[in-house]
Amino acid sequence: MLEVKALPLAELRRRSSEKWREYPEDVLPLFVAETDFPLAPAISATLQQALDIGDTGYIASRSPLAEAYTDFAQRRFGWTIDPSRLRSTADVSMGIVEILRRVTQPGERVVVTPPVYPPFYDLVAEAGAEVERVPLRDTGTRWELDLDGIRSAFAEGARAILLCNPHNPTGTVHEHESLAALAELAEEFGAAVVSDEIHAPLAQPGTGFTPFLAVNDAAQRVGFAVVSASKAFNLAGLKCALMVTADDATSSLVRGLPVEVEWRTGQFGLLASIAAFSEESDEWLDGLLRTLDENRLLLEDLLVTHLPGARYRIPDAGYLAWIDLTALEWGDNPARRILREGKVALHYGPAFGDEGRGYVRLNFGTSPEIITEAIERITALVGR
Ligand SMILES: Cc1ncc(COP(=O)(O)O)c(C=O)c1O
Repeated sequence: MLEVKALPLAELRRRSSEKWREYPEDVLPLFVAETDFPLAPAISATLQQALDIGDTGYIASRSPLAEAYTDFAQRRFGWTIDPSRLRSTADVSMGIVEILRRVTQPGERVVVTPPVYPPFYDLVAEAGAEVERVPLRDTGTRWELDLDGIRSAFAEGARAILLCNPHNPTGTVHEHESLAALAELAEEFGAAVVSDEIHAPLAQPGTGFTPFLAVNDAAQRVGFAVVSASKAFNLAGLKCALMVTADDATSSLVRGLPVEVEWRTGQFGLLASIAAFSEESDEWLDGLLRTLDENRLLLEDLLVTHLPGARYRIPDAGYLAWIDLTALEWGDNPARRILREGKVALHYGPAFGDEGRGYVRLNFGTSPEIITEAIERITALVGR
């Protein structure tokens, strides 16, 4: 089994991406969703070869990307896709905006389910629509879609929902039954479901992840999925995502997008994504999932032992932890104090919606040493 270990801190500090440039060196950055692992070997080899021969031109119209993703989806999720129904674009955000622009008229409402990835609010606005908030329901042990709330929103005219599957920041893998019910609701009210599945390759084994388009026939008719290798394989800067559909009407809508939407795909993103989705990278992805599993459990141990006021549910997917620090009484936005006095950069809870007051989001896609040091720094603030 391949062991996937984060790079040492000294090497990470040589990186020039947002995570490593936003704050001075005395701050541990656990905010933006980048990971600290080396690239999967197949990706490094592919990119190195492209560099060696200057393969930096426009993306090819005929590339094996769609087939690579189709095979990946079949192997990893048992999801059968017709490769002719896939279209690439620069990133998941762009795919979401372009689809929302076409399934809504200006000023129509799109449901989002806070607490949720903050740019969702902006993406809906960029598409010319308005946000309708239907928060996730907290059952006491899990978060789930509020299907009654979504039904009311659709009944009152919301035209689409922007689903996050798995959900950022809670790491929730939505249950098959609630996705199936959502698809039926959307069909009943003629609404579209745009499913952001960027964290899907990081769903932990046994958590029951289902791609939205695979839940039932209704989902195939109402759904658009936007997927990418970028979170699992840390390729966000290379710019490549895929829009997936499963029905003639939805496919023709995506096919009708301006050709420029597809041309904005990055050449390195496309090449790296083909390598990421290839069978050759499966062992690396399995190794990453094991490391993230250890990290999500380590975080629980550290919080239980050192910061018992913190409330944290182990996420089903991904490398983001949604931690409730309300009991520490550090205000609505505890990440501010943690940054200022503890020198740990976390994502601000309230940025995810009002439900995020008192919360922080911590990125554990790093080494056990960095996670431990971060929690020690935060713990040192208690009672200070
Ligand atoms: C749920 C979700 N969607 C979209 C994005 C951004 O993706 P992209 O860079 O492909 O637009 C992120 C980044 O963390 C995310 O968590």
